Amino acid sequence: MMKSVKVVKDLHWVGAIDYNVRHFHGFSYTVHHGTTYNAYLMVDEKIALIDAVFGPFSDEMFRRIESVIDPERIDYVISNHTEMDHSGAIPEVLNRVPNARLVCTEKAVDPLKKHYPDGWEIETVETGDEISLGEKTLRFYEAPMLHWPETMFTYYVEEQVLLPNDAFGQHFATAKRFADEVDQTTLWREAEKYYANILWPLSRMVKRKIEEIVEMGLPIKIIAPSHGVIWRKNPLEIVNKYLGWAKGELVQDKVVIAWDTMWESTTKIALAIAEGIDDEGLEPLLRLIPHSDRGDIMADLLEAKGVLVGSSTLHNEILPTVAPLLSDFEALKPADKKAAAFGSYGWAGGAVDKIQVMMKNGKMQVIMKPFTVKWVPTEEELSQAREYGSEFARKVK
Ligand code: FEO
Repeated sequence: MMKSVKVVKDLHWVGAIDYNVRHFHGFSYTVHHGTTYNAYLMVDEKIALIDAVFGPFSDEMFRRIESVIDPERIDYVISNHTEMDHSGAIPEVLNRVPNARLVCTEKAVDPLKKHYPDGWEIETVETGDEISLGEKTLRFYEAPMLHWPETMFTYYVEEQVLLPNDAFGQHFATAKRFADEVDQTTLWREAEKYYANILWPLSRMVKRKIEEIVEMGLPIKIIAPSHGVIWRKNPLEIVNKYLGWAKGELVQDKVVIAWDTMWESTTKIALAIAEGIDDEGLEPLLRLIPHSDRGDIMADLLEAKGVLVGSSTLHNEILPTVAPLLSDFEALKPADKKAAAFGSYGWAGGAVDKIQVMMKNGKMQVIMKPFTVKWVPTEEELSQAREYGSEFARKVK
């Protein structure tokens, strides 16, 4: 039997572990360590299931629920977020327990009805609303844009457990359920990658919501997100990380250099720029784009001081391999990151202009004119590229 895991008194993890998934949101985000879909069961006089799992994992969730109670005893199904990795198993729950009440925000009604046109009755809640399960209470806080407009947080009042759905999660499949039980390097890298690739464009809302929670003086002993492991020792560590990332404060002495090349000229420029950055005491993170993972590059950038992107020119354009990273810049808006473009060209240029346009679309600060070389760089041009790297480093220091 698959077992539940007790989080605190009367709250059990009953989710599913997806060890094999490697892509998320279609193919837009690689998850090197798989993920988990965390559902939680509150057991009191009444019983609430807080979020569900991705549809194909519903059997796993039911087996874990059955290790605690008969699933037919569920009174409430709380949907904090309607994306299908959390709501996919809700139809099966409500088919098995037709009298259970589905609870969500007003904004969640439309997506739930469109995703699952089963005619369920839905009870909506707003910030501050509570459901008493007997001795224990669930309170709700709307959290729009963390990361969808309909998202809310559920709070287990008596034990001070925040269940914020996607916020504070990590795509990390492990047999362990708590953050203090797993490898810390992997944990924090996955948390960082998750923020960079999901929450970065929403940083303003992240900051506002955290400040709101701090102002409310909401005590938090445990944060139980919907992906990855549960934060039970010093849960404010991840909250402070989010605040730091949202404000762009957690920056180290690093610069990302990401590029692709046709005949190695752009690689020669990238290596010379890296030497110049190193000369100034910053660490260049060199990422040949076809050999790198876009999501990882975005995670590298989260705590870097800036980024240089290079491309050879092909048909007056950037190389097609470079386009997806720049498209991520446009979508994820690594606002205020300092940036510059470089590259080689032959008969005609064009790539660096396109790089700059896409960086600016991503609200980045392009702080230097592009560095370009026609044909193959000479020794003198490589010296200039090195100085260009040094100048970039001095400007971002
Ligand atoms: Fe984990 Fe927005 O779904």
